[in-house]
Amino acid sequence: MKTTIAILPGDGIGTEVTREAVKILDAVAQKFGHEFDLPEGLVGGAGLDAENNPFPQSAADICAGSAAVLLGAVGGPKWDDVPTESRPERGLLRLRAALNVFANLRPVAPHPVLTGTSPIRADLLEGVDIMVVRELTGGIYFGKKERTADSATDVCTYTRSEIERVLRIAGKLATGRRGKVTSVDKSNVLETSRLWREVTNELMPVEFPDIEVEHLLVDAAAMHLLSRPADFDVIVTENMFGDILTDEASMLAGSMGMLPSASLNDGTVGLYEPIHGSAPDIAGQDKANPCAAILSAAMLLRHSLNLEEEAKAVEDAVTHALRDGLRTADIAAAGEPAVGTADMGSTIAAALA
Ligand code: IPM
Ligand code: MG
Repeated sequence: MKTTIAILPGDGIGTEVTREAVKILDAVAQKFGHEFDLPEGLVGGAGLDAENNPFPQSAADICAGSAAVLLGAVGGPKWDDVPTESRPERGLLRLRAALNVFANLRPVAPHPVLTGTSPIRADLLEGVDIMVVRELTGGIYFGKKERTADSATDVCTYTRSEIERVLRIAGKLATGRRGKVTSVDKSNVLETSRLWREVTNELMPVEFPDIEVEHLLVDAAAMHLLSRPADFDVIVTENMFGDILTDEASMLAGSMGMLPSASLNDGTVGLYEPIHGSAPDIAGQDKANPCAAILSAAMLLRHSLNLEEEAKAVEDAVTHALRDGLRTADIAAAGEPAVGTADMGSTIAAALA
């Protein structure tokens, strides 16, 4: 049976790293005897240029007929001055909303081979294995926006059910891990955070009585992530805090280029994308690290297609390439030679064969 996976490369290095992830999906299909149909769609600036829409109907149609969606990255200076509603980032938000992928899983586990790459002291990185669950379809990114010449407004709203459903995902994940959930909010200032904390305190003891629950204010959480990263198991937080904290947390893993993500709803159709952006400064130069995109493809195999063995094989192939000393520029030590995006992808694909 053919499985359709929508491929949305987007902009900048998104197109380069997605190409490598597709190589990996082809290698998986070959090795394990699957048939993947991989139709491509345009989103972000690419959609805007071609169809005057950062999430055109053509891309929506491709996604609607797919078992999962693999995305690269969107945005770039070329579209800096377009109105808010047409921005490439708006296209990504609309895609996430269309798929209703409210829970964004961002695993942060420094690769044992790469601990020297992180700016954080190696002794602090020992045992770090964090799963950040970022609420992805609510909060300030989706609230009403207003703008006059002299004032601007972004509304942040959360409903009880939006908080409950993402807490349930976090609770389930923690159950299969080390049994701890850290909920991050700003309940000393924000009303939405007060509701967030209230709902957490109501739901967790009833539905997940064996899970230890810790609350942290987001400013303190930003500090604790660096001072005691190994203490965290699952972190659950609202959209904007999760966006910010995961860029910070990526430094534990050495580079944003190593961090994949899975965005899930209550069904099986998920959206998979590296946490990094389109990196216009290195776009088109074969310098980007394709590992985050490739590891996102592994998460896709696991969460949407239920192909655990295949997912593990991809992760092992990445480890294999790193153990062999292969490094893209972002993870190469000073003076160490770096390989390009395409070489990195081909070597990982070859390790799979
Ligand atoms: C991310 C990105 C996006 C976000 C941008 C590009 C809209 O920063 O996936 O973390 O804020 O969600
Ligand atoms: Mg971000």
